[in-house]
Amino acid sequence: MNPDRYRRDFPMLDREEQDKGLIYFDNACMTLKPKVVLDKIIEYYTEYSGCGGRSLHSISSRVTQEYDNARKITKEFINAPSRNGIIFTKNTTESINLLSNSFPFKKGDKVLGTDHEHNSNLVPWLKARDTKGIIYDHVPSKEDHSFDLELFKQMVKGVKLVAMVHISNLDGRSIPIKEIVEISHDAGATVFFDCAQSIPHMPLDMKGTDIDLLAFSGHKACGPTGTGVLAGKMEILEEMDTFIVGGDTVQETTYDRVDFLKPPHKFEAGLQNYAGMIGMGAGLKYIKNVGLDDIHSHEIELNRYATKLLGDEVDIVGPEDPADRGGIFPFQILGLNAHDISMIVDEVAGIAMRSGRHCVHSWFNGNRVESTARASFYVYNTKKEIDIFADSILQIKKDFL
Ligand SMILES: Cc1ncc(COP(=O)(O)O)c(C=O)c1O
Repeated sequence: MNPDRYRRDFPMLDREEQDKGLIYFDNACMTLKPKVVLDKIIEYYTEYSGCGGRSLHSISSRVTQEYDNARKITKEFINAPSRNGIIFTKNTTESINLLSNSFPFKKGDKVLGTDHEHNSNLVPWLKARDTKGIIYDHVPSKEDHSFDLELFKQMVKGVKLVAMVHISNLDGRSIPIKEIVEISHDAGATVFFDCAQSIPHMPLDMKGTDIDLLAFSGHKACGPTGTGVLAGKMEILEEMDTFIVGGDTVQETTYDRVDFLKPPHKFEAGLQNYAGMIGMGAGLKYIKNVGLDDIHSHEIELNRYATKLLGDEVDIVGPEDPADRGGIFPFQILGLNAHDISMIVDEVAGIAMRSGRHCVHSWFNGNRVESTARASFYVYNTKKEIDIFADSILQIKKDFL
């Protein structure tokens, strides 16, 4: 794949007039937005900036039509079965809070995660443990930090909900979702995956894998900020209690009674982020046109190249084979603070990357690791950028060690 073909689609990369360009390596946090997404948002605000689903005038009808279309694009993007529901939220975190608050748990029901969970797929379950009396546990990884399928087979017995991160933002490691779904269903458990780091980077087939529920964020998939999705089988969504309630969630009310709408509408309260969700649809369409297989192999190629240049210079905190890290390059340099590394590369070479604990504090505490620096790649990143990145890291080592 030739990333130069796509770079011109992203206005943030067009910084030639400034003294230094931007090398954007913080894609696991949020991707840049292509112009088609910005245009779609402006189109909403300039051509049909009204509320959807309520008024009967032509502006409102257009909003409803565009909003419904964004839902259709989202559904097709993850190849969800036609009966599945797509709930629009503001991010993966809100989607998981909706799930943890609304899933029909009884006291003592068990939820099972991994030891690589982002706080967004850990804290809601710990809260549900404290407020609803569920039991939360995680499957410890094998010694080499990979997912322990054999241990999972034992631990899933009696579990109500398996709630696991598909690809870790910490080290790019993935879990075998197809096997996990099969084993979970055989054990009578429902399966939810946090797909925040997979859906923008590789094809995911909700129908083919028979996943019950999943969540992801639009802003990590070329979409506008504050956009997210909870997708799920309709029979599960129907059993789930409401979360935030009010206008738009109801069919009818009297002074003492309320009839809720069917999902997804019973979960989407009040006026919505129309521009955002319509923009998210444009972002997903953009990614689909580029091709998810191509994006996935491009990220691995970049990761291989970064590993070739820096593998002997830094400690990579993650799977040895770059192919198992996708677009994530997490590392430490003994004797240097990860925050210092990321601030220096920004200062000297305009490289934006992340450092710290990446909202996976539990893993860092459990493994007694202080922090890591993390470069994460996407469709518009190039080997030339990795050359500059590698040179900067070598220079830092020379200057500061
Ligand atoms: C694996 C994973 N899950 C959940 C989240 C939370 O996403 P958001 O902040 O968009 O809700 C992130 C964000 O980095 C993530 O990487």
